Amino acid sequence: MAIQLNDPGLLKTQAYIDGNWTDGFEGKTFAVTNPANGEHLADVADLGAAETRQAIEAASRAMKEWRALSAASRSAVLEKWHALLLENQEDLAILMTAEQGKPMFESRGEVAYGASYLKWFAEEGKRVYGDIIPTPQTDRRGIAIKQPVGVVAAITPWNFPNAMITRKVAPALAVGCAIVLKPAAETPLSALALAELAERAGLPAGLFSVVTGSDAPAIGGEMTSNPTVKKVTFTGSTPVGKLLMRQCADTVKRTSMELGGNAPVIIFDDADLDQAVAGALVSKYRNSGQTCICANRLIVQEGIYDAFVEKLRAAVAEFSIGDGFAADTTHGPLITEKAVRDVHAKVSSAVEEGAKVVIGGEPQAGAGNFYQPTILTDVNPQMRVFREEIFGPVAPVFKFSTEEEAIAMANDTEFGLAAYFYTENMGRMWRVAEGVDYGMVGVNETAISSEVIPFGGVKESGQGREGSKYGLDDYLETKYICMGGLNR
Ligand code: SIN
Repeated sequence: MAIQLNDPGLLKTQAYIDGNWTDGFEGKTFAVTNPANGEHLADVADLGAAETRQAIEAASRAMKEWRALSAASRSAVLEKWHALLLENQEDLAILMTAEQGKPMFESRGEVAYGASYLKWFAEEGKRVYGDIIPTPQTDRRGIAIKQPVGVVAAITPWNFPNAMITRKVAPALAVGCAIVLKPAAETPLSALALAELAERAGLPAGLFSVVTGSDAPAIGGEMTSNPTVKKVTFTGSTPVGKLLMRQCADTVKRTSMELGGNAPVIIFDDADLDQAVAGALVSKYRNSGQTCICANRLIVQEGIYDAFVEKLRAAVAEFSIGDGFAADTTHGPLITEKAVRDVHAKVSSAVEEGAKVVIGGEPQAGAGNFYQPTILTDVNPQMRVFREEIFGPVAPVFKFSTEEEAIAMANDTEFGLAAYFYTENMGRMWRVAEGVDYGMVGVNETAISSEVIPFGGVKESGQGREGSKYGLDDYLETKYICMGGLNR
């Protein structure tokens, strides 16, 4: 086995259904490989619709007792699970770097980030309040109470194999739901290790099942059509999100969708240039550009355009791309060969249409799915690099003249997840923050994520919010109770 852990018990290759580790009904497997070198890491149980149904039925049974517990009792399990994630941070990071490719410092950071959702919702779950509503009639009172939405199905991506799971699972469990998860086929090992730690934390069987599988339509089809599932939560691409929403319509399920982005970073002439370059670097190249809130378009005012591009180029030239386990690696591989081809197709099409490559611009020669960190100038809004999510380490730098033009460029997309801008002008901070059509806006800051903030988008970037006090709402129904007969 290629992965060496301090605790080998965290390397699981069977799915986890109703508290049992299982190979699935047909005993099939799929391979998990290391994107940095193609090395075969593990063969993981390949499940389908029938096992998904089994997990959903188990969730429905398990939820009956779980929802009846006090919030404090549920919280205690989440607190224990949180502690176990931190105790096992190094092993979880090793699993993540092996299957996802990100450098170890990013993997360690993601494990801490993922754990923070368990802690946060362990606390927030105790604060699910309702309302007493004054009614027009004197003989009655209205009451609104919050109850768990029911069995939840979650589908999560490979770019954050830990945190995207905990920020769905933690609020669901905290309020009394049970949840069935289908992790990405590229990164099932991180999800299974989370299930192992949930079991060690004392989470009762059936409340959190992990259905591993390579047949996403079969598993997703069961999740979206099974009437026992009351809510589907998904993080991934906009086309798949739309498909899931259509499938959920037949049984009128609640949905939360964290979908694609096309984040602008607007840099005004009056910005602190060094701060803006540092922010753009973090936002664009984090996780090698494979983040939904990654800067997709750098939009720079003409007065500082050349200076910005030169500083950005100098910083990117210092990157060390390579295997995430190497101590000096700053940026890891892309997830698959196809991802490298897709990113290169966007760069090539921009170059054919007149873009200039300042640095990078090619797949990295040799083994692994590496793409050179790239900067493009002479780009325009008709190009694919403006219109589409790049999901790779490519920074197209667009030029603008006026504030109105910058806002119009930022909003010229069907996406609306995150936007960022840099300025020292207080009035402009408010005008632009209010003028851009995005769910999240970073003003002089691009590292905006944490468990305490409402993460989510508008337009075709999705619906619902994860994290923060608002993150519980997506797992709760509001029930109105009319208490009558008060005059008797
Ligand atoms: C994402 O890519 O959707 C997650 C990024 C984050 O939570 O910061």
